[in-house]
Amino acid sequence: MTSLAPALAPSARRALAEGLAGVFADTYSLYLTTQRFHWNVEGPHFQSLHALFQSQYEGLAMAIDALAEAIRALGFYAPGTFREMEGRASLAQPEARFDAAGMVRFLADAHGQVAARVRELLPAVEPKGAELVENLLMARLEAHDEAAWMLRASLGEGSEAL
Ligand SMILES: [Fe+2]
Repeated sequence: MTSLAPALAPSARRALAEGLAGVFADTYSLYLTTQRFHWNVEGPHFQSLHALFQSQYEGLAMAIDALAEAIRALGFYAPGTFREMEGRASLAQPEARFDAAGMVRFLADAHGQVAARVRELLPAVEPKGAELVENLLMARLEAHDEAAWMLRASLGEGSEAL
């Protein structure tokens, strides 16, 4: 991503970078939980869920990189320690052990929560010059919607007859 620093006023840049750091931390949290479920899922749907969770955490890893580089393009250093993540993440990391369906439900809800945090940030990309960030956020919304749909579809619930 090319530098966005000259295009935005300092206060707008900082607000956007702060917002992105929040989305970044929640995306990291969701990445870790998705990977944990990939490792620990059990039961008759092990193989398909193990593979689905892997494809989803790989997608989240790419998003984490893009979000960090957007923060850099705004002229700020990307966070990266557990402490920084913890301070910025709002997504819960469940301590409880879930069965396979519980994991799928948790992840589907979590994708919705991260998408909501992305949506909160959309007004901050109004100023001219932040189109690249806006494109990234729109791509994140689409990816979270798709991931939640795939998870819900694997449960066999969530759709209605036409
Ligand atoms: Fe693996």
